[in-house]
Amino acid sequence: MKKLDVVASATIYDDVSELPSDIQALMNKAVEARKRAYAPYSKFKVGAALLLENNQIILGNNQESAAYPSGMCAERVAIWKAGSEYPGIRVKQLAITASSTNTKVDRPVGPCGACRQTLSEYEINQKEPIEIYFMGEVGNVVKSESLLSLLPFSFDSTYL
Ligand code: THU
Repeated sequence: MKKLDVVASATIYDDVSELPSDIQALMNKAVEARKRAYAPYSKFKVGAALLLENNQIILGNNQESAAYPSGMCAERVAIWKAGSEYPGIRVKQLAITASSTNTKVDRPVGPCGACRQTLSEYEINQKEPIEIYFMGEVGNVVKSESLLSLLPFSFDSTYL
């Protein structure tokens, strides 16, 4: 028997103004996407912006449904949009932001477990890390160097 410590490291920026200017621009795109989210039930809007290797930016936002489980997160809307339009293209960076009409979201909002799993498939296939930046509406921004560092002991195709 042995004990294993799994360590996730991240960089914390005080706020968006501390980010490099190209990442600020990507985050601004995520904010634009967030504002267009369809979230009438949760009132929690999420925007995601992906920078592709061809320098194109793909946006996504959460899309809810009266049949609640049929809704979809911003991150998966964005990655599937990228995957469907540009199969096999590499994703360099992902910016995520969230806001709510119920409360001020002043803490970083990381991607949910299902989005981490979905995104990990793309990171593994492209053999290059996807840099992730996530925040609420205001406040700290977290930078993670890769998707897999947010998903220890993850499931992947090698188990199949
Ligand atoms: N949501 C996302 O879009 N991304 C996440 O990573 C977490 C949750 C959405 C789903 C739902 O529309 C709303 O936020 C509340 O859960």
